[in-house]
Amino acid sequence: MQTLTMTMPDDFHIHLRDGEYLATTVPHCASYCTRAIVMPNLKAPVINTDLARLYQQRIVDDLSNSQEFQPLMTLYLTEKTDPAEIITAKNSGVVFGIKYYPAGATTHSQAGIFEWQKLRHVFETMQAVDLPLLIHGEVIDPQTDIFDREALFISDVLAPLHQEFPRLRIILEHITTQEAVDFVAAAPNNIAATITVHHLLLNRNDLLAGGVHPHYYCAPILKRVKHQQALIKAAISDTGKFFMGTDSAPHSIETKESSCGCAGIYTAPVALPLYATLFEENNALAKLEKFCSFYGAQFYRLPINQKKITLEKNAWAVPEYYDFGNSHVVPLYANKTIPWRIQK
Ligand code: NCD
Ligand code: ZN
Repeated sequence: MQTLTMTMPDDFHIHLRDGEYLATTVPHCASYCTRAIVMPNLKAPVINTDLARLYQQRIVDDLSNSQEFQPLMTLYLTEKTDPAEIITAKNSGVVFGIKYYPAGATTHSQAGIFEWQKLRHVFETMQAVDLPLLIHGEVIDPQTDIFDREALFISDVLAPLHQEFPRLRIILEHITTQEAVDFVAAAPNNIAATITVHHLLLNRNDLLAGGVHPHYYCAPILKRVKHQQALIKAAISDTGKFFMGTDSAPHSIETKESSCGCAGIYTAPVALPLYATLFEENNALAKLEKFCSFYGAQFYRLPINQKKITLEKNAWAVPEYYDFGNSHVVPLYANKTIPWRIQK
């Protein structure tokens, strides 16, 4: 049987949710990565270091004794964020980034940002103390076509923000377009991007052709195939600017299969095997480790993990669903057979 042993990855963008959901999300996450950047968009957003510390403890409490996992916490930027909080966060050893949600762009983003210009003092402090800014890059103008929101964000928000704060470390999260790839590739080394496995594997036909597929609905929305191809090229490139962030974002089956379904795809149980499948299909299996385990750690200035993980080419059927509180969550590729699995 073909096997692949590599440095244990880090996931630089994940939603673990809270409370009873942690019993599902935390073990899944700890099964393929040693560290993960944990998103702060809880129902009551994680807006300061004290809340991040408490949330981190709840996550760690849900780990089994055999699992080693370090949650890297983020704070949710609001128009009320105080620069003093940025300094507290930086010195905490708990917070590794500040998350910018345009207000209303995605799940639990209502407390986010309308005008970035109001936050100049915050960005200045982040630049001074070197705390990364993690951006959900979509404009929120309801007149803008949903498929154009990322490209417009890059020209109208990200480019001027980067110009004004040229030393600020920025991660453009879950990129979906050729425009995002081009911007990040051309930018200096303090700008990077995460790429999800679903944006590498799928395009908008998967979501919309032959019927609506609610389990492929996410933010930013899947784009056309030429953008998917640009993402694949970026992921297997050797620039060091593109790395793994699954954006695994569970919602219960009822809230996905609904007349107004939630955005988010639960990929944690399948992400690493599917990244391996995608890299192999593109003759780039040798680059998987850099994308999953090196480039992100280097950008976040974290030591490379010592632990190893082994994947084996041994097909398995993805379960139809997993328990999720008192409901269920449907993973990406539920009921499908995938070629790679994590060796126990
Ligand atoms: C995320 C969620 O459900 O929290 N949803 C998603 O579609 N990606 C939020 C986000 O990262 O946009
Ligand atoms: Zn996300």
